[in-house]
Amino acid sequence: FRMKIIRAKDYYDMSRKAANIISAQVIMKPNCVLGLATGGTPVGTYKQLVDWYNKGDLDFSEVTTVNLDEYRGLPREHSESYWSFMHRNLFDLVNINPASINLPDGTNMDAEAECARYDYVIKRVGGIDLQLLGIGHDGHIGFNEPGEAFELGTHCVDLKPETIEANKRFFEGNEDLVPKQAYTMGIKTIMQARKVLMVANGKDKAEIVKKAFFGPVTPEVPASILQMHPDFILVGDEEALSLI
Ligand code: GLP
Repeated sequence: FRMKIIRAKDYYDMSRKAANIISAQVIMKPNCVLGLATGGTPVGTYKQLVDWYNKGDLDFSEVTTVNLDEYRGLPREHSESYWSFMHRNLFDLVNINPASINLPDGTNMDAEAECARYDYVIKRVGGIDLQLLGIGHDGHIGFNEPGEAFELGTHCVDLKPETIEANKRFFEGNEDLVPKQAYTMGIKTIMQARKVLMVANGKDKAEIVKKAFFGPVTPEVPASILQMHPDFILVGDEEALSLI
């Protein structure tokens, strides 16, 4: 297996190493397409990219972005929409062209139309050069939950109770406020990215990291398919990699 594992000391070190890989991509190909992710894990990576941008070492003016997923039915302006998350953590802080930012539109309640539109957007920009990913405790990537077929493009998913539970910390700790559905890029689209970079940190990810990358490839653990990707890099801190 061809996957590369980079061991980082701690969260800060993981974030720096991941940001390094992303900036190398932007420097090699200034008009690259970056697939971006939300969640707690990549926040430090974005922070590092913003620091380097502020120092004049990075230029996002020609970069296009496509995000993995968005909650269905949450207004953009909601502070926990992935649209808001991305603007707060990256887009508002660097010189990216707003016209080059793409996310699924959670406010379009016509799921079929929205998923088709988003697949077309990804196709039109020429596919993804580098896809950044986190990993859910059940092995989900984007919002591709266990048990889904590997071959899907963008689709609408019902979030698993565990995912709602894990994400309620962002919604006043109240799971009734967490959206129950999301639009997500499919596994097929993620696998078609030319390079895939996953960040994982903390003890609570150790078990799933082991299962996903040292266990069988199965839709029950969506991230496990990345074992088959020709250019997959996992950057983990000591705790997340402690069982492998
Ligand atoms: C959410 C996101 C995923 C993310 C996961 C883990 O479900 N849709 O993209 O990887 O959470 O988040 P965290 O990094 O906060 O553990």
